[in-house]
Amino acid sequence: MSDWRGSLNPLRVFISGRILLMKLNEIVLKEYGSYLKMKYKNKIQELKLEYCTDEHGEYIYLVLIKIKPSQKNKGYGSTIMSELIQYADLHNVRIKLWVTNIYGSDVKRLYGFYQKFGMVLIKNFNDGHMMYYPQKTKL
Ligand SMILES: CC(C)(COP(=O)(O)OP(=O)(O)OC[C@H]1O[C@@H](n2cnc3c(N)ncnc32)[C@H](O)[C@@H]1OP(=O)(O)O)[C@@H](O)C(=O)NCCC(=O)NCCS
Repeated sequence: MSDWRGSLNPLRVFISGRILLMKLNEIVLKEYGSYLKMKYKNKIQELKLEYCTDEHGEYIYLVLIKIKPSQKNKGYGSTIMSELIQYADLHNVRIKLWVTNIYGSDVKRLYGFYQKFGMVLIKNFNDGHMMYYPQKTKL
C-alpha cells in the first residue's frame, strides 16, 4: 500500500467543500480496515473486518482484533474499538463479534473489554457472540 493513503480517512469524502459520508459496502469497509491498519501500523498485529448482512440488515463482523504483544495494555485496543464504534454509529450499522480464548486472552476480561464499548451478549445465544447496536449520530 502506498504512503499517501495513510493520511486519508476513507470515512469522509470532501466534494466542493461539503463532507459526504460514503455508503457502507464491502469495498468501503475494506478501505476503512486498511486505513486503521496504516494508522496504527506499529500497534496492530491483525485486524479483520467483514461486511455482512442478516435479516435485520447490514453489519460489520469484527473477525479479529489483535494488538502486538509488546503494545498490549497501553490503551491501543480501546482506541481502535472507539474508532470502530464511531464508524458504526456514523453508518448506523451494528458490529458483531465472537469472544474467544483461542488467541490466548482471558474470556471474562474480554467480555468486560467489549462491554465498555456498549457491546452486549446476543440474547438467546450462548455461544459468546456479542453485538453493538448503533446510536444515532450526526456527521
Ligand atoms: C484484547 C486486546 C485487543 C485488548 O487490546 P489492548 O490494547 O491490550 O487493551 P487496552 O490497553 O486498550 O485495554 C486493556 C483491557 O484490554 C483487555 N485485555 C488486555 N489483555 C487481556 C487479556 N490477556 N485477556 C483478556 N482481555 C485482555 C482487558 O479488558 C483490559 O482491561 P482490564 O485490565 O481492566 O481488564 C488485546 O489484549 C489482544 O490483542 N489480545 C489478543 C487477541 C485477542 O484475544 N483478540 C480478541 C479476540 S475476541
